[in-house]
Amino acid sequence: MIRPSFVGAIDQGTTSSRFLVFNQKGDMVATHQLEFQQHYPHSGWHEQDPEELVRSVEICVNGCVEEFENQGHTREQIVAVGITNQRETTVVWDKTTGKALHNAIVWTDARSQELVRKLKHRIGSGELNSRCGLPLSTYPSASKLLWLLENAPAVKEAYERGTLAFGTVDSWLVYKLNGGPARNIHVTDPSNASRTMFMNIETLEYDDDLLDWFRIDRNKVTLPKIVRSSDPQAYGSLTTTHLKGVRITGCLGDQSAALVGQKGFSAGLAKNTYGTGCFLLYNVGSKPVISKHGLLTTVAFDFGEGKRMYALEGSIATAGSSVMFLVNNFGFIDSPSKLSVLAEEVEDSGGCTFVTAFSGLFAPYWIDDARGTIFGITAYTKRGHIARATLEATCFQTQAILKAMEKDSGKPLTELRVDGGMCASDLIMQTQSDFIGFPVNRPGMRETTALGAAMAAGLAVGVWKSFEDLKDVNNDGRTIFRPQISEKEARKKFARWEKAVDMSRGWLN
Ligand code: G3P
Repeated sequence: MIRPSFVGAIDQGTTSSRFLVFNQKGDMVATHQLEFQQHYPHSGWHEQDPEELVRSVEICVNGCVEEFENQGHTREQIVAVGITNQRETTVVWDKTTGKALHNAIVWTDARSQELVRKLKHRIGSGELNSRCGLPLSTYPSASKLLWLLENAPAVKEAYERGTLAFGTVDSWLVYKLNGGPARNIHVTDPSNASRTMFMNIETLEYDDDLLDWFRIDRNKVTLPKIVRSSDPQAYGSLTTTHLKGVRITGCLGDQSAALVGQKGFSAGLAKNTYGTGCFLLYNVGSKPVISKHGLLTTVAFDFGEGKRMYALEGSIATAGSSVMFLVNNFGFIDSPSKLSVLAEEVEDSGGCTFVTAFSGLFAPYWIDDARGTIFGITAYTKRGHIARATLEATCFQTQAILKAMEKDSGKPLTELRVDGGMCASDLIMQTQSDFIGFPVNRPGMRETTALGAAMAAGLAVGVWKSFEDLKDVNNDGRTIFRPQISEKEARKKFARWEKAVDMSRGWLN
């Protein structure tokens, strides 16, 4: 009897690691998830232990494989594994020992703010964006690496010795899961490399002018080799866990993976993922489009000749993390899933607007020194109003991003595909549709990020032969949310949000 093939996906996110197994129809058949520790050593700083990230992934793979086998399958049926990951988060290690030299600096970390402020005055700073697609800010990996080189003696020493290795989380995981220095597989894919500011957005290769501008000497630090997002050989194979020997054949930054999982393969399709942050990616086709309105240019995916696509991206730093803030810091609710229940206790935000700029404001505003600010509090304000204002913040910022996207692309979107934890809430999705004035389309199976990584891996080994082969994957159980308020009302709300954004600037001055 020929037993069906399955594909695994490692999803290493900002707050948890997961491993999921998908069948050929794209159904998720087994999953295991583990949260790991977040470190906030100072206000605005955010770190993770790179070794703990690897361990958490290994535990998830083993836990999931056991669940999979309990269903009567065998581990040999998992024929390939894809990786998807939080992007920009910066890991440095010594390539002779394979040991991390510092905690990972997480994408949300704003410690390089002063450094970025100085860099903005360096000649040529205005040309970076058109070369790498990203604005100079604390968000991409570049300023995180520079901060480490200036402030972490072990990192500086390894750099001077020429043994320093740099990577985003994908390349760190691939390196470690392959056994570290023994095999020394140090690679990344263009969707991740395009988040560093070191890669040329046209050529998909490291750009010497960019590296020179940042004063990074390539002889002193090894950068991961950039390979395709879907490749049968380049990523090696797992050497630990129950899946020893299984090849890693797909790799995508999590937001690119979600676009793939939503089958946003052609120009004009867009998705918005409401995770720890919220990220809207709009497929612009096979040529990069440089934004003039505060969006990023990123590689959507590189599946080889004729299947390399770019996206315009609107990045929101705080989304699910603002809900966690209400849980952990204010104790408003005991779990994120209760947010909507609390918000539904009231009819609206009661005049409150919450600019959740915990790490400054990202797209389309890029205000590094904005900080979380609530306006409109009166003696009438209840917890429900703050809950509503919290969920509205992500929806308003999405609205601002869509306005910028329309200006950049010249075409208004007519439908938004959504996924990520917060999209489970009907209230949030309805609010989103009300604000943007067009339908929001939510799939039944919302593990689109992991599914995208599995698709990248499965395409490399022939589980699926082409995009056409994927046309029936994940079509069931969709919910469409349509606007229920007038355009005039939406405009009025948005004007108040923009006013609040303006007033949230300059808190660090
Ligand atoms: O750019 C950061 C992003 O990749 C993190 O995604 O899902 O952890 O919010 P998420």
